[in-house]
Amino acid sequence: MEVTVSRKAHFNAAHRLFNEKWSDKKNSDVFGKCNYPNYHGHNYELIVSVTGKINPDTGYVIDMGELKKIIKNEIEERLDHKNLNLDVPYFSNVIPSAENICIYIYDILRNYIQKEFHLSVKLYETPRNFVEYSGN
Ligand code: NI
Repeated sequence: MEVTVSRKAHFNAAHRLFNEKWSDKKNSDVFGKCNYPNYHGHNYELIVSVTGKINPDTGYVIDMGELKKIIKNEIEERLDHKNLNLDVPYFSNVIPSAENICIYIYDILRNYIQKEFHLSVKLYETPRNFVEYSGN
């Protein structure tokens, strides 16, 4: 019997989407407002879900207090109030789209979540647009 537990988190960050191999026009056509040269912010909402068996000693799948700390220390500290393009080295050569940010977050968290648990990360860039990655 497996149960999924989820923790919500939040960070604000700025980004600009552009592909340096393309002309200004093509960048603008493809990325629209997200290509504006002076960056812009999003209020990102994050949902981290862990699926696994319940530990009979605790009744928990995992300790949510621990998960909260990991997300705070490893994700929020790295991303909150940052300019993703300029402040986060990973995005110096990776386009900081919601998809790529979601993979970045997953890959960090995966190091802290034991292998026997399934991990899934959902990232909302706007209330209506969200992406999900679970390691495939
Ligand atoms: Ni944007």
